[in-house]
Amino acid sequence: MKTIVEGKARILTGDAFYNPKMAMLRDMSVMFLKAVRTRNMRVLDSTAATGVRAIRYALEAGTKNVTLIDINKKAAAVAKKNVKLNGLKLKVMNESVQGLANEHEGSFEAIDHDPFGSPAPNMFDLMKLAWNGTNLMITATDTAVLCGAHAGACIKVYGSRPLHNEMCKEAGLRILLNFTARTAAQFNFGMMPLLSISDMHYMRVFVRLEFGADKSIASMKNTGIGAFCSKCYEYMFEKGVAPLLGPLCPKCKSKMEPFGPIWLGSMRDRDTIMKMRKNSISDAASEKMDLLYEELDVPMFYSVPKLTKRLGVTSVSHYAVMEKLQETGARVTRTQFDPNGFKTDASIEEVFASVRAAGRRK
Ligand SMILES: C[S@@+](CC[C@H](N)C(=O)[O-])C[C@H]1O[C@@H](n2cnc3c(N)ncnc32)[C@H](O)[C@@H]1O
Repeated sequence: MKTIVEGKARILTGDAFYNPKMAMLRDMSVMFLKAVRTRNMRVLDSTAATGVRAIRYALEAGTKNVTLIDINKKAAAVAKKNVKLNGLKLKVMNESVQGLANEHEGSFEAIDHDPFGSPAPNMFDLMKLAWNGTNLMITATDTAVLCGAHAGACIKVYGSRPLHNEMCKEAGLRILLNFTARTAAQFNFGMMPLLSISDMHYMRVFVRLEFGADKSIASMKNTGIGAFCSKCYEYMFEKGVAPLLGPLCPKCKSKMEPFGPIWLGSMRDRDTIMKMRKNSISDAASEKMDLLYEELDVPMFYSVPKLTKRLGVTSVSHYAVMEKLQETGARVTRTQFDPNGFKTDASIEEVFASVRAAGRRK
């Protein structure tokens, strides 16, 4: 069997799932755990597979009290071998999240959940395992669902109507955050997003739970609805579960496309990102942290190729458009959701004017 080295861990894959493309995300998870680590933190890797994450947490994040579970018998056996191979003494169980949640309520200060597909079916059990101050790290790889390829599936699984255009990744990430906050609120947890990432085929949210009815009520005030007018490219947002967004665009009176509920609060905590950046363990992770630190905390973004196509302007670099916007006094930054996009607090009229000013008509 081949031994793989990732970070400080040596891993045999055997019959367990291992994706080398996720190594950078595991780097970031190590950095995150290091940034939020508390004394005697109890960490759960609830979908261990080879155990690579849990082993790296123990070896690199300085969290020694790590439990690994996997519902798959063969995977749990591989994880057990790997724990031994790395000279560690960690608890490894062939157990499901559901099974563990029934017996270990409120037992972990950090939980990593990285299932195949959607985390939604296990969200309830993850909340049971958490308590005041728990940091949840949750991955979703059902991005086609969250990005609106099948609207019905997203409504069924997450209770939200998705968006199916170039902004779908941000809408999807906010749907995942909203679903997490809504499930957390049922357990009287408020949710504070510390880091939210959309990349390749996955989305991942890092959130802290805070116990208290007041906290959960405050958290739910970040839920809201969006609406998009494909004619004038206008986005509108309104917080609340029964907001008053009209069905027609206030500018052109076209029918708007509603989406949500989505999370309309902040998606990150700059202090956490700064701490992670200081402990960075790879250039790729540092670059990502810089981007996430800088990214403007406003809903949605603009994709320059889409804008130029729409306005009949020759292609133009997103930096040129950003410069034009900056000249107007607007705030503007790069965005994680599109390498050719940007986020801004400028109006759509200012955005269009900047694209026109930066390009030439075809
Ligand atoms: C995507 S893999 C995890 C990969 C791993 N976190 C890593 O970074 O290499 C998902 C694993 O979760 C396990 N799993 C799926 N559903 C589970 C459940 N309800 N409880 C515990 N483990 C589960 C699967 O058997 C599989 O090994």
